[in-house]
Amino acid sequence: MSLASRETTKTGSVSTAFYRGLFIIYLVSILIAIPTIYFITKDELYSQADKELKLMVDVVRSARSIVRERTRPHFLPQGVFFPPVVSSTVMAKELATQFKKLQPSYLIRMVSDNPLNKDNYPQGLELKVLEMLRYGNPDDGLVMTGEIQGNQYLISAAATKVSDGCLICHGSAKTAPQEIVDRYGTNSGYAWKTGTIIGASLVGVPLADLNSAVLKRFLIVIVTITVLFAIVLLVLIRVVQQKIIQPIQEITEIAKEVSLGRSNQPFYSERDDEIGALTRSFELMRRSVNIAAKKISKLSQGNK
Ligand code: HEC
Repeated sequence: MSLASRETTKTGSVSTAFYRGLFIIYLVSILIAIPTIYFITKDELYSQADKELKLMVDVVRSARSIVRERTRPHFLPQGVFFPPVVSSTVMAKELATQFKKLQPSYLIRMVSDNPLNKDNYPQGLELKVLEMLRYGNPDDGLVMTGEIQGNQYLISAAATKVSDGCLICHGSAKTAPQEIVDRYGTNSGYAWKTGTIIGASLVGVPLADLNSAVLKRFLIVIVTITVLFAIVLLVLIRVVQQKIIQPIQEITEIAKEVSLGRSNQPFYSERDDEIGALTRSFELMRRSVNIAAKKISKLSQGNK
């Protein structure tokens, strides 16, 4: 290996150190980005779902209040048993049916394990929720995440308690209004007991798939970080090459020529930095060497 090429490889290692440092910073930024993005996205998705859930719960509550405070006191004394205007649960169910047509991804369910309508029998997680409400602390209701019919939901559930008024329709098939018996039969949905928890009302908002949301954001961030680092790298390569490596290579070349006696070219730099100082030090050394060389040659001439 020639002297020149060995020195080029050595000066190359200055830039390698820069690039290695930059690469480590790049990796660290990505490693920090992964958990940060995950937690921020999770937090955002849940708080958004939570907000929607509260809204939905209040809408259902309002519909129930309309029946309790307005339509039931009006129609019941007249002997009108039309369920949606007499039962707040049926009104909430009607609301759910209409709402589902407009917003199929949302969930409003009124379930009971002794239902008039078989479609209202709790399924999967709903059964578990009903049990939790029955044997837990039902007054608080509960908020949880879970899967219903294959979709992930943030769910708010409240217990449905039987009061005396419910027994008009849910008491017994013998006393229930004829339309109800005609429509739902006599097997199920009756013999409810006042004060017991007969069912649950559930409101669910869809939870967007956390992993795919995280992945999407992560890809965006990775691309951004990579582009930024690539730009920094390109600028750095240029600056290191122009400001450090090239001048050092020049000084090395001249110093080599001077030391071999092939040239007496002065070292010159206008720069006001370390490279400038280095160049000027070399120049001082070159002059000292020249003076010393002249003295030596004079001495040797004198000796002749
Ligand atoms: C005027 C009759 C009537 C009254 C009073 C009534 N309901 Fe109902 N209820 C119905 C009908 C009809 C259905 C079935 C609706 C359907 O097709 O989904 C129903 C359904 C339900 C369901 C869903 C499970 C099922 O049986 O299909 C629950 C829970 C429920 N009612 C709770 C109550 C509660 C609690 C009360 C008292 C506060 C009450 N209901 C009062 C008529 C009534």
